[in-house]
Parts: sequence; C-alpha cells; structure tokens
Amino acid sequence: MENNLTFEEVYDYVGGDQFFQSLVDIFYKKVENDELLLSIFPRDLSEGKKLQYLFLRQRFGGPREYAALRGEPAHMRKRHMPYKITIQSRNIWLSYMIESLKELNIKEGHPAWMVMNDYFERISMRMVNQNEFIVEKNEIIDFKT
Ligand code: HEM
Repeated sequence: MENNLTFEEVYDYVGGDQFFQSLVDIFYKKVENDELLLSIFPRDLSEGKKLQYLFLRQRFGGPREYAALRGEPAHMRKRHMPYKITIQSRNIWLSYMIESLKELNIKEGHPAWMVMNDYFERISMRMVNQNEFIVEKNEIIDFKT
C-alpha cells in the first residue's frame, strides 16, 4: 500500500504525545486486569508504564527522551530477560496492544496500521525467553517470509 507511513512519520500523524499517552493508558488497563500478565509484571506498574510511553513515542518518531534516560541502543530483548515471557503471555500482550490500537481507531486501512501492527507482531516475538526452541522456529518463519 503506497499510503503507509514510515516509523518517523507516525508520531505527528496520530497526534503526538496525546495519542501515545492514551495508547499506554488503555493498554495498561488491560494488563491490570489480566492475571497471567500481572504474574509477570512488577507489583508497581507505574514506572514501566512511563517507560513504555517514552519508548513508544520515540520509536514512532517522537522526542528521544527514552534514549536519554535508558541509553541507546535500547536492547529490548535483554531488558526483558528478568521476566519469564512465554509464547502465551506474548500472545496476550500482543492482543491487548492491537485492541488498544483499534480502540484509538488505528486499524486496517489507517495509514499507521501496517507499520505499528507489523512492529508489535514481530518485536513482541523477540521478547519470548521461555521455550526457546519454539521461539527460534518462529523467528525463522517470521524473518524469512
Ligand atoms: C513490541 C514489543 C514490546 C515492546 C516495544 C516493549 C517495550 C517495553 C519497554 C520500553 C519497557 C521498559 C524497559 C526499561 O527501560 O526498563 C518494557 C518493560 C517490560 N515489558 Fe515490554 N515490550 C514489549 C513486549 C513485551 C511482552 C510481550 C511482554 C510480556 C508478555 C513484556 C513485558 C514487560 C515487562 C514485565 C516489563 C517490566 C515493566 C516494569 O518494570 O514495570 N513486554 N517493555
């Protein structure tokens, strides 16, 4: 599709800080009500929520505050190593992120959909650090097709 945005264009197109704040608010509401994810996340969700906001707005073309705070490159898989992330919890995480996007009207047909949906689908798989065999198989399928 020719009218897809690049990563850098997403931030301005969707409405900047306001959009990413809403995305993270909606997403974390879902996390707060999910037993499996709560068993992985730390008890206090506030710091992670703020970092998620700073990271996502940076990733999609906004201010580079996350890098200033947490360093660059972000090494997201390494940062997730302390948490036991299975395929199942990744799938739940991903479905909540996609639902949150949809609640903000980022769905099929929206210029930001392809880039955001594809990013979350691919990168969330890289955070899986349990049952490595299955992960590696999926990674090969993921990257070679
Ligand atoms: C595209 C996929 C993902 C992105 C971009 C992402 C992004 C982030 C970021 C930016 C942080 C904060 C890191 C820091 O600076 O300390 C974080 C923390 C975390 N993420 Fe992810 N994540 C992804 C997938 C997942 C998945 C699939 C899970 C589990 C099912 C997960 C669980 C966590 C947990 C438990 C933390 C720690 C939160 C805290 O300290 O409060 N993430 N993630």
